[in-house]
Amino acid sequence: MTHPAASQSDVLSEARAFFDEWVAHPEVRPPSSETVQARLREIALELDATGTYTHRFEELEFGARLAWKNSNRCIGRHLWRSLEVRDQRSLHQLPERESATSNALQSHINDAFRGGKIKSIVSVFAPRTPGKSDPVRMANHQLIRYAGFQTGTGTTGDPHSVEQTAHFMQAGWKPKTQDPFTPLPWQFYWNERPSPPQDVFTERPELLNEVTLVHPENEAFNELGLKWYALPLLADMALKIGGVVYPFAPFNGYYMGTEIGARNLADETRYNFLPDVAKCWGWDTSSNRSLWRDRSLVELNRAVLFSFDQAGITIGDHHNLGTQFEAFCAHEQSQNREIKGDWSWLNPPISASQTPQFHRDYTNDVCPHTNFFYQAPIWKEAKPSSGCPFHL
Ligand code: ARG
Repeated sequence: MTHPAASQSDVLSEARAFFDEWVAHPEVRPPSSETVQARLREIALELDATGTYTHRFEELEFGARLAWKNSNRCIGRHLWRSLEVRDQRSLHQLPERESATSNALQSHINDAFRGGKIKSIVSVFAPRTPGKSDPVRMANHQLIRYAGFQTGTGTTGDPHSVEQTAHFMQAGWKPKTQDPFTPLPWQFYWNERPSPPQDVFTERPELLNEVTLVHPENEAFNELGLKWYALPLLADMALKIGGVVYPFAPFNGYYMGTEIGARNLADETRYNFLPDVAKCWGWDTSSNRSLWRDRSLVELNRAVLFSFDQAGITIGDHHNLGTQFEAFCAHEQSQNREIKGDWSWLNPPISASQTPQFHRDYTNDVCPHTNFFYQAPIWKEAKPSSGCPFHL
């Protein structure tokens, strides 16, 4: 599939908007307005000649950071300026492109994990050229993710991965085991044509960095055999900088405990572990009015934070991330920059009213020129765009 080209004047105006926003951040020492004007003339010529333009490294670096800053749904954006940006735009041209790309991603995981002191990194691969197929993408939603196997009676593993797991198996993946926490393989698409899935984590299990969940007081909880991986590393969103689309730009942050304890392991449509957690305390689950769900959520979330802390691995909680986000908003306001946000995402799934973000309003305008966007998965039949502003 080729992608419809944005008109050249659209790209140019998005490039201009990107540079304007850069200049509005004096604390990062942006280029002078003369430099910007000259650069925009150069970009206009390149657009005329090729239909796109090539970012200089400094543009890529600031652009990726700004895209993070512009991600309305992210509570961790106070760290935007420290994002490490890796320029991998030419790896797809190598004859050994698949192993080179796989190695680059393995290094990304290892360097981002940093022995537990997690660091945010984005690896930026080849940009889209209008009218051509994307040079490289992956089928994976995250680089580390558990499979979901459909059984006669239900699901073994993560229900969120069921469709994708079936896809990988159809593409030739033969999982060594089918347990609740089987890591998915990786699969590359070169010019939108699939390679066979590769089982990276059977070769390099040390890259998984899983945390076994234990509870500070309840020993029965430790028998549940719960765990989660340490590094959230999203691989299926598109990065756009000044009108140029990077369809493959995997990035990581660190977890907020509730993502694991109040969603991944707790949602009825995900691992659904709350009834098992409640049993460890002997709570009456016959009526929701006993608030056994709520009590179980709190204990499960304590276990997540306690276990990551014991393992010496970075994790945020909704209170400290809320406070840091609040400080970030205050700083932006002091610079006369309005901070955009999606209230429903910035609020945690538990105890929202105890965090500052609950008590604030946010404008949810999506910055169109420099941002991270959802996009149609490469491994599914193309679907018409949903019209959602967070979608490319
Ligand atoms: N919510 C997703 C998950 O539980 C991860 C999304 C990104 N999260 C982050 N902390 N950067 O796997």
